[in-house]
Amino acid sequence: MGFWKSLFVNSDATSSPKSTQSSSVLAEVQSDDGSTRIFFSTDRDIDLYELEELCNAVGWARRPIRKVKKAIQHSFLVVTMWEQRGSRRRLIGFSRATSDHAFNATIWDVVVHPEFQGQGLGKALMKQLVKKLRSEDISNVTLFADPQVVDFYRGLGFMADPEGIKGMFWYPD
Ligand SMILES: CC(C)(COP(=O)(O)OP(=O)(O)OC[C@H]1O[C@@H](n2cnc3c(N)ncnc32)[C@H](O)[C@@H]1OP(=O)(O)O)[C@@H](O)C(=O)NCCC(=O)NCCS
Repeated sequence: MGFWKSLFVNSDATSSPKSTQSSSVLAEVQSDDGSTRIFFSTDRDIDLYELEELCNAVGWARRPIRKVKKAIQHSFLVVTMWEQRGSRRRLIGFSRATSDHAFNATIWDVVVHPEFQGQGLGKALMKQLVKKLRSEDISNVTLFADPQVVDFYRGLGFMADPEGIKGMFWYPD
């Protein structure tokens, strides 16, 4: 079991942020020796090239930066995950949700850097995102899962085709 997993397992994501922290920090956890900190943030001021690097690292197709910028600007919620060592911060996870601001939200672009996968961090990131959506009284949370991650989302309580409902898609010819 990875170090971070031992901190996140059976916990409701992470510890509460310190009161001195910026309001965009949702939660954080520190390594025993204090050298490394992992934190979750809703701050949208992200270096888009760093985000592109993160997406490249998991093999996602490149998307035009200006469209990614627009998608982030128009998202209802963005939750990022950062590793901090001294003054150096590194983007290690990303997720966002669009919403009608009342009933529904849809989660997009959930990603954890390969070096940090398998340690409970994807689960913690998703928990932060869903917790924040619930705090906004959004009750219908949906997502589109790639086939290889269906069980990851199932483990977080997401159901495929509840009551036979099918996701349907339309693409231009
Ligand atoms: C999917 C992803 C976000 C998971 O992140 P992660 O940090 O590795 O996941 P965690 O370590 O938090 O795993 C949480 C649980 O899900 C399980 N899990 C993780 N990835 C899984 C997968 N692909 N399929 C099934 N279960 C998975 C883990 O075994 C763990 O189970 P446990 O709680 O019983 O121990 C990460 O693998 C990733 O970024 N993948 C590439 C991008 C991607 O495919 N994103 C989803 C697009 S729809």
